[in-house]
Amino acid sequence: MKNLKKLLAICLMAVLTLSFAACGKKDEGSKTLTFGTNAEFPPFEYVASKGTIGEFDGIDMVIAKQIAEDQGKTAAINNMEFDSLLLALQNGQVDAVIAGMTIDPERAEAVDFSVPYYTATQVMIVKEDSAIAKASDMADKKIVVIQGYTGESCVKDLGYPYEAFKKGSEAILELNNGKCDVVVIDSATASKYVKDNPGLKIVEDADAFGSEEYGIAVKKGNTELLNKINESINKMKADGKISEISAQYMDVQTEE
Ligand code: ARG
Repeated sequence: MKNLKKLLAICLMAVLTLSFAACGKKDEGSKTLTFGTNAEFPPFEYVASKGTIGEFDGIDMVIAKQIAEDQGKTAAINNMEFDSLLLALQNGQVDAVIAGMTIDPERAEAVDFSVPYYTATQVMIVKEDSAIAKASDMADKKIVVIQGYTGESCVKDLGYPYEAFKKGSEAILELNNGKCDVVVIDSATASKYVKDNPGLKIVEDADAFGSEEYGIAVKKGNTELLNKINESINKMKADGKISEISAQYMDVQTEE
């Protein structure tokens, strides 16, 4: 009987210790800034064996890490589908979204965007021998876009039929295999794909595709975090860090 009591006491202690430990963990949680991304968008975010934040690497990952460090926190990544990012932000699953995401009025209704940190445009990726020289040449061609990206809305607005893929890498494979004629995607990502895939080239059309700016999104009304993010971005823009890492990551060979 005595032994049983002793055992019970030990068990109780163990349970208490464990729950305290769990509480401690939760405290540590506030030291983490969780970013949502979709790591299918080189050179901004992709999976690498040794990344900047865990297995995640790219321009955005360096920026995210710096933003967290500026607040004395550690950056964590929640990798998900591009289409789920803004919802995850609204649900409180992530603190911020960094995903080469274009600031657009429709998205800005749902979330708040930081100051812009990168300027891009949509471009066309075609085979080197393609006759496509401007956006209107796509009219009777097989066009591929990435689902939910601004490139999809651009092609939709131009009024051409298209097929939407989940990942840029899948779209490039389709083009390489001759199953489509053109992929419409953001300029820096296009440059990266063309660099890594011989036989492809980029076609630009500034009349058809305007410029876009990337921003970091936070939950609507989270001005406290937004101000801190803006401060970090402005600092990284002023001291040239963003241009420096952008150039650097254009040259990194992505492992896929
Ligand atoms: N800039 C484009 C957009 O906002 C594409 C972004 C894709 N980003 C990604 N991490 N997959 O729609």
